[in-house]
Amino acid sequence: MSAAMGATGPSPKLAFEGITLDYPGLRVLDGIDLSLADGEFLAIVGPSGCGKSTLLRLASGLLDPTGGRVLLDGKPVSGPPPGVGFMFQRDTLMPWADVRRNVEVGLVLGGTPTRERPARLAELLALVGLTDFAGHRPAQLSGGMRQRVALARLLAYAPDIYLLDEPFGALDAQTKITMGRELLRIWSQRRRSVVFVTHDIEEAVTLADRVVVMAPRPGRVRSIHRVDLPRPRDPRSLRADARFREICAAIWNHIVEEEPAHD
Ligand SMILES: Nc1ncnc2c1ncn2[C@@H]1O[C@H](COP(=O)(O)OP(=O)(O)O)[C@@H](O)[C@H]1O
Ligand SMILES: [Mg+2]
Repeated sequence: MSAAMGATGPSPKLAFEGITLDYPGLRVLDGIDLSLADGEFLAIVGPSGCGKSTLLRLASGLLDPTGGRVLLDGKPVSGPPPGVGFMFQRDTLMPWADVRRNVEVGLVLGGTPTRERPARLAELLALVGLTDFAGHRPAQLSGGMRQRVALARLLAYAPDIYLLDEPFGALDAQTKITMGRELLRIWSQRRRSVVFVTHDIEEAVTLADRVVVMAPRPGRVRSIHRVDLPRPRDPRSLRADARFREICAAIWNHIVEEEPAHD
């Protein structure tokens, strides 16, 4: 499946074409050209403030670019399109509803028939380890648990394309690896397209087909790294893999690289 390997063929799932985004007195993104193949897992890394979240908001149609265009399935994005699943950096759970209800909303929006919902709901709660917390409201949960609820809701919705903004940022190292493994398992079964923003390089290399490194002020693409590690990947054993370490080191060098000195 060449598309899954990150080849950007004639009709990418998602494309940023010459994207510029300005706020008054501030150029946030400058000339972003980037595309995501159907079924590809793309990770985006870069320092805080380089425009990663802004890029995802553009892809989700919540924000319009100042210049250039964003294409989803070849069509310009305007307003949140159906089939796009977004997970924000800060969770957007319904505070008055319990965990069960928050996840169920994803099933309803995703069109799961009513009689299939209870079984699917139980499966998703077990998947994210929240079976015992089904009756709790978000305020009664830790940040990591709320992220897992948001992930379960997104999986319930089963979008065509996942736009994930540091989805595991509030998780401890152990849970992060478990969730990463689950995400890979689900992704490999259904081959949806994923854009995964993170500032964790090892996480990016573990998960993605390609890793995009962004540079700040203004935000732009500094380099793109293909991750030629075989799948399925086991996050734990990868850590000792020489090729894994080599790719991480290359990405790290691009992130810390100084701007060339002016003459
Ligand atoms: N609504 C806004 N108004 C003005 N500046 C903004 C707004 N949203 C984001 N920015 C600025 O855009 C830049 C990129 O932000 P963001 O996309 O959140 O970066 P990242 O997710 O990479 O940390 C930052 O300098 C931020 O201050
Ligand atoms: Mg961000």
